[in-house]
Amino acid sequence: MSHKPDTCQLTQTGKNVNLIIDGLPVTVPEGTRILEAAKKLNITIPTLCEHPDLCKRALCRICVVECDGRGKLVAACANDVWEGVSIVTNNKRLSLIRKTIVEMLLANHPQDCLKCIRNKNCELQSLALKYNIFTCSFENGAEDTKPVIESDTLVRDMDKCVKCARCAEACLEVQTIGAISTARRSHDFEICTPFKQPLEDVSCVFCGGCASVCPVGAIYEHDQTSDVWESLNNNSVKTIAQISPALAEVLHIKAGKLIAAVKLMGFDKVYDASVAANAASAEICNEIKTKQKKPVVSGCAEGVSRFIKNFYPDLTNHLTTAKNIRKTFASLIKSKYAKEAGVDQSCVTSVSFMPCIAQKYASAPDKIDFVLSAKEFLRMIKTAGIIIETLPEEKFDTISVDLPNQDNVVKKETVSGFAQARNVMESIRKGECDADWIEILSCPDGYCK
Ligand code: SF4
Ligand code: SF4
Ligand code: FES
Repeated sequence: MSHKPDTCQLTQTGKNVNLIIDGLPVTVPEGTRILEAAKKLNITIPTLCEHPDLCKRALCRICVVECDGRGKLVAACANDVWEGVSIVTNNKRLSLIRKTIVEMLLANHPQDCLKCIRNKNCELQSLALKYNIFTCSFENGAEDTKPVIESDTLVRDMDKCVKCARCAEACLEVQTIGAISTARRSHDFEICTPFKQPLEDVSCVFCGGCASVCPVGAIYEHDQTSDVWESLNNNSVKTIAQISPALAEVLHIKAGKLIAAVKLMGFDKVYDASVAANAASAEICNEIKTKQKKPVVSGCAEGVSRFIKNFYPDLTNHLTTAKNIRKTFASLIKSKYAKEAGVDQSCVTSVSFMPCIAQKYASAPDKIDFVLSAKEFLRMIKTAGIIIETLPEEKFDTISVDLPNQDNVVKKETVSGFAQARNVMESIRKGECDADWIEILSCPDGYCK
């Protein structure tokens, strides 16, 4: 699903354009970019700053092609096709240009791929391989400052930034937050927060949108798999897990196989996180009955409260008083399990496997309540050498939870991403929202629905 802002969507005129790409004729709707027209012929033009969920930025020039009639190089990601044009996407000249651009980027890049979280999954590394760059023609001028861990959720290692501005666009245009943006021009062009403050001190809602589009290891989720392995390998600690049903959906893996994999990793118990959602939902329904101000607003992660406090301080009284669902369930299963197993609660580590990284925010300052994202889950599978497809399906461990009475039906509206959240908050401000309960999910995909 694309989250491109409406302003970047293709305007359908109903007309078609005929053109030639690498000698092959093709017909596409007017307004189609060269990149997409080439795709129709199964021709892949290399890209770096381009991202299918974002608008065109044309910053890296890796995608340049030759077009007749213009006599110059044209960025395929940013230019639409026109009637009768003949385009060349690959020749000796274009390869050399692309190779030189990659070499220039590498000359300004710490070449520590082996210890980079994106090793073997990095778009810059793939381009370097594609153009057979094993040594660099330019002197390396990269800085080597320490990566910054932001609130246990994200890590920023801006020495690795290739200045594609995907993150800034994801933050401002898709999520409407603007916690990171572009600054200055030309050689001094950079990606930064306002006054270079930590993300915690600016408007960031820790949704992870920036990390999900970064092509290199410049912004990524704070990996806590080593801490979790440490707990699993410590015989005096019991490690229990809760798995969000959305994780199976995101990874396209059957829930039973996920459970089996987590058990195989050595977790002592594996619980279904949706049990908590039902309990929390009942609590919010009860709150709606008593709350003076309707609607009650809840969120999938703590970042949602930050969003309301930063952008709608006059509406904070709509925020639910119910505790974060995941956290509540984590402490509940921990206390129940500790009692059952006859161990002290301080010897139980809880790990929540969630689909995205938004829930990592404000989760594990004490190192006994971890949240791992889908990517971290996959890393653990890899480390353990588990071939998940071959595992027989298993079931969740059971736990009895006392659900509050849920005898009331409420009008609930769920919105995904902060652009939609903004619309609904504006309608509350204007007194035009007739829902009883607004649920805000951090990511535009609505993973946690
Ligand atoms: S985590 Fe979300 S809000 Fe924070 S900088 Fe990244 S995209 Fe922006
Ligand atoms: S941090 Fe990543 S996404 Fe943002 S500009 Fe740098 S390389 Fe691009
Ligand atoms: S991918 Fe086209 S300019 Fe970067």
